[in-house]
Amino acid sequence: PRRGAGQPDFPLAELHCHIEGAAPPALVERLGAKYGVDVSAIIRDGAYVWHDFTSFLAAYDHAATVFRSEEDYAELAFSYLTDLAAQGALYAEFFISPDHARSSGTEPEIYARGLAAGIVRARDGAGIEARMIVVGVRHLGPDAVEAAARFAAGPGRPLVTGFNLAGDERIGAAQDFAKAFDIARDAGLGLTAHAGELCGPESVRAAIDCLKPSRIGHGVRAIEDPDLVRQIAETGIVLEVCPGSNLALGIYPDIAAHPLKRLVEAGIRATLGSDDPPFFHTDLAREYELATQNGLTGAERIALTRTALEAAFVEEDVRRKLL
Ligand code: ADE
Ligand code: ZN
Repeated sequence: PRRGAGQPDFPLAELHCHIEGAAPPALVERLGAKYGVDVSAIIRDGAYVWHDFTSFLAAYDHAATVFRSEEDYAELAFSYLTDLAAQGALYAEFFISPDHARSSGTEPEIYARGLAAGIVRARDGAGIEARMIVVGVRHLGPDAVEAAARFAAGPGRPLVTGFNLAGDERIGAAQDFAKAFDIARDAGLGLTAHAGELCGPESVRAAIDCLKPSRIGHGVRAIEDPDLVRQIAETGIVLEVCPGSNLALGIYPDIAAHPLKRLVEAGIRATLGSDDPPFFHTDLAREYELATQNGLTGAERIALTRTALEAAFVEEDVRRKLL
């Protein structure tokens, strides 16, 4: 493991990373050249360029179009997971999107198969374990999200263990996606939903009430409603907190303003995630450093990893080995 100065001496784990959002710019440029896709509008001087959430999503969508073959996806998952293992991680869950597969002309089955091959390769090569969570893209509407849930629930989806709602939180009401979550729940998948990132506590409340997830992606803006903070602490819903993402998107002006410490002190179970690491100039090791800068003690940071393993959508025998 890469253990530089100030890096944690305990294992890391993350439950919140979008696989296309983890694509290194150099890999996107190489595949762009291979398939004749111009990526110069989204990558300059080796870094992604975007200026707000909407343009970030557009850059993300464009980067996703250069991954086409089963092997491209295997390489993407392998590169993400081996880098994570080098940071000291032993487990990861990442989000996969059948809609993004289709946008690059790839059958979602091929996409999921390639990514699963990357997981197996990284497990064999770097000892890291991983599972996949299918996302529906909220701003594509309820029908698209239901189709994503049916894909996730379909037979023969190795290493797919969960369902999530991602995309633009400002579009549509949580209630519109209840049927998709019913489909995923009935299939035995773990459930999580993005809320409380771009929108406030009312969005977190709606996601909890309508979708009944065991985890919330971000959820940090619950801090604006003390009753909601109490409810989340009492029910044990886990927040997948991504401080580096929140800073990059300007949700909070600096790490001192971030509510992670206050959420943890209120008794909320939290984990850390890198979200879209190269887009946000972060990685999981930096997220743990940001937690330190936000005031978390060593014991509180170790608890972030433990909570991730406890809340992971993974088979019980694998969880027991990781814990
Ligand atoms: N898709 C990729 N990254 C996302 C984020 N941070 N929030 C919502 N949808 C996303
Ligand atoms: Zn996310």
